[in-house]
Amino acid sequence: MTAVITVDAENPDPAAIARAADCLRRGGLVAFPTETVYGLGAHALDRRAVARLFEAKGRPATDPLIVHVTTSSDAAALVTQVPDIARTLASRFWPGPLTLVLPRAAVVPPEVTAGLDTVALRAPAHPVARALLAAARLPIAAPSANLFSRPSPTRAEHVLEDLGGRIDIVLDAGPTHVGVESTVLDLTRTPPVLLRPGAVTLEQLRAIVPEVTLRTATPAPGVAMPSPGLLSRHYAPRTPMTLYEGAPTAARDRLRAAVRDALAAGQRVGVLLTAEHAHIFRDVPVVVAELGTERDPHAVAARLYAALRELDAAQLDIIVAADLPQEDGLWRALRDRLRRAAAQIVST
Ligand code: TXA
Ligand code: MG
Repeated sequence: MTAVITVDAENPDPAAIARAADCLRRGGLVAFPTETVYGLGAHALDRRAVARLFEAKGRPATDPLIVHVTTSSDAAALVTQVPDIARTLASRFWPGPLTLVLPRAAVVPPEVTAGLDTVALRAPAHPVARALLAAARLPIAAPSANLFSRPSPTRAEHVLEDLGGRIDIVLDAGPTHVGVESTVLDLTRTPPVLLRPGAVTLEQLRAIVPEVTLRTATPAPGVAMPSPGLLSRHYAPRTPMTLYEGAPTAARDRLRAAVRDALAAGQRVGVLLTAEHAHIFRDVPVVVAELGTERDPHAVAARLYAALRELDAAQLDIIVAADLPQEDGLWRALRDRLRRAAAQIVST
């Protein structure tokens, strides 16, 4: 049985937090909100707890976890070296949605990091996450609290959909604010490499570290993945989704044609698109999930995973999605997730 404990997002009840912290200390699994998505927490220094975590998620042992801490000094205890650049970035972005990859200290079990000699660390900003860290007095290993390869959970209901009965506790504090995961930055390489675009933008990082580079290569099969979501499908609905990219008008024409063909073939169709384009399907018998306006990437981020899950629950044969309008700022992370969620990408 999974206990669902409702807590206030700003001022969580200390008794509820103490119960969850105690569960973690005993090697249990607790899902909790962060500002990005819900995480599934385990005692990061307890190998058995970490093994249970991988098992509950169905996550391959080759995919390393992020360890959550309260402060930079907690982080320093888990690494062999803190470069100046890490101090600078942590003081600017922590607590917040930036994950820093640093050389792992021996105290961190290799199971946490998929055998890598590096460890990913972040100090979350959500008051519930911070209260839990403070009460447990532990580093908490926490991947997103979804089944492996499903969309990340932005609400406690999503956690229960995937992990109900497989974990001990869910702290339900309502929807998360950001909606897309943290940015993962590898500081063990010079210059630093952006492994996963996320809630802290490349532009924000480059304002402080101009030489940050983007990663491009894909690792060999069987090798521990140096970055998240390198699998072809990740963050994905179960219903196959096709993403239409390229020149916007041409891409939308092809998307519309695909919808027409699918309906003619008797298929049930879901469409994922921004508010600006939702009207296209007003009189068409499809299920539309709207992402919010193209003027506000934050609104799109907050809706993205919930929209994917809504379409997935609607018993459709196919989902079609229109590309997002831009590549800068938060759009980079959103387009990345949309591409990874797609089973197929059609470029015009
Ligand atoms: O916003 C977030 O980051 C959320 C919340 C819960 O904090 N967590 C999250 O965790 O998205 P997860 O496990 O779904 O994605 C973390 C990614 C992993 O896929 C992994 O590839 C990368 O971070 N990562 C972890 N440790 C790493 C390491 N030592 N080197 C490189 N990448 C690492
Ligand atoms: Mg994840």
